[in-house]
Amino acid sequence: MKNNLWYKDAVFYEISVRAFKDSNGDGNGDLRGVTQKLDYLQNLGVDCIWIMPIYPSPLKDDGYDIADYYSVDKAFGSLDDLKELICAAHEHDIRIVMDLVLNHTSDEHPWFQASRSDRNSPYRDYYVWSDTDQKYTDTRIIFVDTEPSNWTWDEKTGQYYWHRFYASQPDLNFDNPKVQEEMLNVARFWLDLGIDGFRADAVPYLIEREGTNCENLPETHVYLKKLRSFMDEHYPGRILLCEANQYPEDVRPYFGDGDEFHMGFHFPIMPRIYMALKKGRYEDMAEIMRRTPPIPENCQWCTFLRNHDELTLEMVTEEERQWMWKQYAPEPRMKLNLGIRRRLAPLLDNDRRKIELANSLLFTLPGSPIIYYGDEIGMGDNIDLPDRNGVRTPMQWDDSLNAGFSNGKPFSEFAREREELGYQFINVANQVNDPDSLFRSIKRMIAIRKKHAAFGGSSMEWIDAGNPAVAVYIRQYHNDTMLILNNLSASTETIILPAEYQKAYLDLFAGHTQTLAETLTLPPYSYLWLQMLK
Ligand code: NOJ
Repeated sequence: MKNNLWYKDAVFYEISVRAFKDSNGDGNGDLRGVTQKLDYLQNLGVDCIWIMPIYPSPLKDDGYDIADYYSVDKAFGSLDDLKELICAAHEHDIRIVMDLVLNHTSDEHPWFQASRSDRNSPYRDYYVWSDTDQKYTDTRIIFVDTEPSNWTWDEKTGQYYWHRFYASQPDLNFDNPKVQEEMLNVARFWLDLGIDGFRADAVPYLIEREGTNCENLPETHVYLKKLRSFMDEHYPGRILLCEANQYPEDVRPYFGDGDEFHMGFHFPIMPRIYMALKKGRYEDMAEIMRRTPPIPENCQWCTFLRNHDELTLEMVTEEERQWMWKQYAPEPRMKLNLGIRRRLAPLLDNDRRKIELANSLLFTLPGSPIIYYGDEIGMGDNIDLPDRNGVRTPMQWDDSLNAGFSNGKPFSEFAREREELGYQFINVANQVNDPDSLFRSIKRMIAIRKKHAAFGGSSMEWIDAGNPAVAVYIRQYHNDTMLILNNLSASTETIILPAEYQKAYLDLFAGHTQTLAETLTLPPYSYLWLQMLK
């Protein structure tokens, strides 16, 4: 595990520890449970797992509200369990990154308790306080369904405190050098334990300035560069992954000159993949990719189809958002904030062809892909559960009681779908040994992707093949050239290949060679990954 640029062509897998595997029968998934399932993840071809927050927390935001940065919540196990997981993961050639929540703490964190106890507390300045709620009025509210304001009144000390998320998540004050120092110490603690890096939560919001929208400010970048140089100096090879839900031109500065984040999520491509599948047109995807600026050689985008949050529609126009809601959230309760709280398989009508096609796009577009746990088996969701819990239901390992997730009473209901889509049918045990399963298709895609440097590279060229329903592009790295074709429509489509691409190729799934003529016909929702033979 020596290559410091490992993340550039790695396949990531996001895990809600609570929902993955319960090793001790208390109903909560835990770190030992993840350790038990490393063989499964290795079999799938995962290179790096991202575990959602495991810190002690009152769970007002499923662990993104941290009450103690230096330990593991008892529900998940202990620091020793984490050390064991890291060691065992490394033995499986799997790296492991965790959430680093810089922007805010829980209101139960001792710093905030002290801060709100008295205006003269040494911790007062750890948070952002104000006499008026008319400061920073140009700042948008993120949790629009629940939060009327970014300010909440504190009765005892008679001031407002600032929070970009729930009122139970006060923002730390990054203008305070002590806060900056504290968070470097937090990072050091987990890096010393052996963690391979961080998915840094909500980084655009660290600093507030009057007259701005309080996002992506220069001072925020100054701090993030400090964090990076600290990591480079002491922990080379460990990574920082940026969660900035922004347009590509606004994420670009988070890569700096290759001296800030190693990786950044590409948020706006995600909803456009769903648009493409519904419209049977690739133009929206092509447009956002064309709008994506180049990034430094040592950086990489991170792409995903779904994650633990609502499918965010922040990075689309108002008109597109309304359209997406209409198409993908037919019931009002499927909406949450500016998004849709459903999982991949139900969003795509549990249609195997569409699910595979979406994955074909995920695995062939520039960037390192992240799979959200359970999506590799087409797991469903449960919209009866509140907030985002419906997409965080227990992993479905087999058809035994509680899906092989727990011997106790599970912390949550399972995905609720039509009966034939329940865990009795959609589960890992059913799929790992079935060569025709979704799991096996995804596993094949991963294996092929990992054999070809072209996928981890940055080059991508769209080809006009005379048909707006078929996304055709070239991915290339040195001598490795791929021609990728995705038919986004529900009909059979014909394309016309420009002369320079009428050549011999190896079909990477079928395993045979094929010389392409001028016209080529693709079945509905089909995809081809072709390696150019010379
Ligand atoms: C982004 C996380 O993905 C989300 O789950 C969380 O609610 C907010 N940040 C606040 O930490």
